[in-house]
Amino acid sequence: MEVQRDIEAMREAARALRQQRGSLAFVPTMGNLHDGHMALVAEAQCRAPAVAVSIFVNPMQFNDARDFAAYPRTLTEDMALLEAQDVDLLFAPAAEEFYRRPLEQSTRVVVPGLSEILCGAYRPGHFTGVATVVNKLFNIVHPNVALFGEKDFQQLLLIRRMVEELALEVEIVAVPTVRERDGLAMSSRNRYLDEEERRRAPALYRILCEAAEAVASGRRDYAALEAQGMARLERAGFRPEYFAIRRAADLELPAKEESGALRILAAAWLGRARLIDNVAVPAPPPEGR
Ligand code: PAF
Repeated sequence: MEVQRDIEAMREAARALRQQRGSLAFVPTMGNLHDGHMALVAEAQCRAPAVAVSIFVNPMQFNDARDFAAYPRTLTEDMALLEAQDVDLLFAPAAEEFYRRPLEQSTRVVVPGLSEILCGAYRPGHFTGVATVVNKLFNIVHPNVALFGEKDFQQLLLIRRMVEELALEVEIVAVPTVRERDGLAMSSRNRYLDEEERRRAPALYRILCEAAEAVASGRRDYAALEAQGMARLERAGFRPEYFAIRRAADLELPAKEESGALRILAAAWLGRARLIDNVAVPAPPPEGR
């Protein structure tokens, strides 16, 4: 695996790889890789003959300096995992290489609306940091296809919208959330859970699934279901931020008789860990069955 740390060398290496192999898939990450990331890499390898990964803990998307400082950095282990999975190219820039001016003076990409709701309401500036770093990574790597996990569903929609509205030439592929055996979505933040919290954590997914089943079975009292979801999370020991039933296409509030797909999303604290997860509402069985 070729490793690049500066922008110009990475641009050149990605260009050469794209030319040699015909197309390039890209998986942006913040490192501390787990099976969820490796599923993105495996899907990338199915989509293109060459795969590039980035590892960059992006300071612009952290609205809390302590959270940024504490974020797990495990580059040596991450590189061993990527090497073992035959990744072709890794970009692992230092923060001073990636942002050459102080952050508050740096150019940024704003996706209005989607950036301000749900997680964006609790983490001001977060999605602007995400859109900016992903846009810049795309400009360096020029991938044909880029892969993002559905666990960060709001991030996925934000990237899709940015790509569409800025007419970027990259296909965005969504990869389903990878879960532990008990249902907990894999996340670098799970390592903040102590033993007791880890035992409780799968309740987040269970409570989301129960709400999804209620909607699939015909309930349309979304506000009541959301309040119920919040109360259940509290009873399970979480400090929930939101529990929201939204249109899957744009995360807007659904109409009473919504015909499009729905998604249920939640964010909740368990001890030191802020967990997020989401589920699709299963489609109703076809008429007449
Ligand atoms: O999902 C992540 O790990 C990050 O938000 C991303 C997309 C790599 C941007 O820093």
